[in-house]
Amino acid sequence: MGERVIPLIDERQAALPLPSPSGLELPPGHLRDARGRPLRDLRISVTDRCNFRCSYCMPKDVFGKHYSYLPHSALLSFEEITRVARAAVRHGVRKLRLTGGEPLLRKGIEQLIAQLAALRTPAGQPLDITLTTNGSLLARKAQALKDAGLQRVTVSLDGLDDATFRRMNDVDFPVAAVLAGIDAARAAGLRNIKVNMVVKRGANEDQILPMARHFRGSGVTLRFIEYMDVGTTNGWRMDEVLPSADVVRLLQDAFALVPLAASAPGETAMRWGYAGPDGRHDPALGEIGTISSVTQAFCGDCNRARLSMEGRLYLCLFASQGHDLRALLRSGADDETIEATLAAIWAQRNDRYSELRATLPPEAQPAHSSGRRVEMSYIGG
Ligand code: GTP
Ligand code: 5AD
Ligand code: SF4
Ligand code: SF4
Repeated sequence: MGERVIPLIDERQAALPLPSPSGLELPPGHLRDARGRPLRDLRISVTDRCNFRCSYCMPKDVFGKHYSYLPHSALLSFEEITRVARAAVRHGVRKLRLTGGEPLLRKGIEQLIAQLAALRTPAGQPLDITLTTNGSLLARKAQALKDAGLQRVTVSLDGLDDATFRRMNDVDFPVAAVLAGIDAARAAGLRNIKVNMVVKRGANEDQILPMARHFRGSGVTLRFIEYMDVGTTNGWRMDEVLPSADVVRLLQDAFALVPLAASAPGETAMRWGYAGPDGRHDPALGEIGTISSVTQAFCGDCNRARLSMEGRLYLCLFASQGHDLRALLRSGADDETIEATLAAIWAQRNDRYSELRATLPPEAQPAHSSGRRVEMSYIGG
């Protein structure tokens, strides 16, 4: 199969104008967007490269050997990332998630983690720092990441069966190496390890029960994610989405599950605890999660902002453009200006893509992914 043509005018070229930073001198943590939502979670993409080619994210026919990735000079430096993170923390961010592409491909990522781990909230608390990885380099890097100040990690894993997993990552990567990465993360002392499985109907739904059996009682929280219409290259089709309700039904036939309360406002996942013989949640058996971005939108309290590797700030996973903070950083702006600009950007935010899509009548629902949207590999999950 030949490679698909990459649009000449790349999404990444166009950035939104920066709003004027004036007039928004807020006390720390008081920032709200146009829908009253605070800013709590900053997801930082550190590279546009990945060594996997999951068809729902970086399909091979687009991300082939002629795809042009960003040059190193286009990427934010660790100092620049840390400056943006510091400004975001002043405005209420409590969680930092490093993503990619595959974040462990960024050279010296441990140094960035160490810089971010030194940040404190206005009340002097450390931040919740985590990272989303495909796990391929985790066995090698887990200890260094932990030593640098990483507290937890989320590993993407779409199946346990080796042939299925090799097909899902599309680079013939063996599942055993990812499982070894998860073990290494645990051995290094990383806590609250999560595994994210994107469920694509017809591709890996037969892996739902084996994955649940494998991780039940292991201390690792498995989460099932509905395949989303993010980006424009994955050829998303509604009929390939397996609704979380179906996943839960399947799991309930095999295990006793009880619903658990959300652990934080704005959480992406619905939580389900494995019940013991008394019918109550048994913490030793752990829990699972379902993330239903397609069938049950969670925009109402979405408190997530996304910073791309080249310094664009995106206010929604489905946005087509981001605000060019790199230009501001490289213009010599001081910390106050960066903070005030960030506040002005967030104050205007009105995004709620999934919620709007859900209000469309069935005949108006998009059957395919369309439009001009940023790719998940560019701003991370
Ligand atoms: P924890 O703090 O570990 O619970 O993480 P999280 O649930 O906030 O984030 P994670 O990165 O593990 O997100 C899991 C998946 O949920 C992502 O890979 C996306 O598929 C989806 N997701 C995360 N954030 C959003 C969002 O803001 N909007 C939508 N539509 N989907 C999201
Ligand atoms: N639908 C749902 N989740 C996706 N991810 C990437 N592409 C998609 C998609 N189309 C998420 C997965 C993966 C993380 C890196 O991004 O959770 O684990
Ligand atoms: Fe890479 Fe993760 Fe995208 Fe798969 S989902 S191609 S591992 S960034
Ligand atoms: Fe947030 Fe946009 Fe996702 Fe809604 S669709 S939860 S606004 S990122």
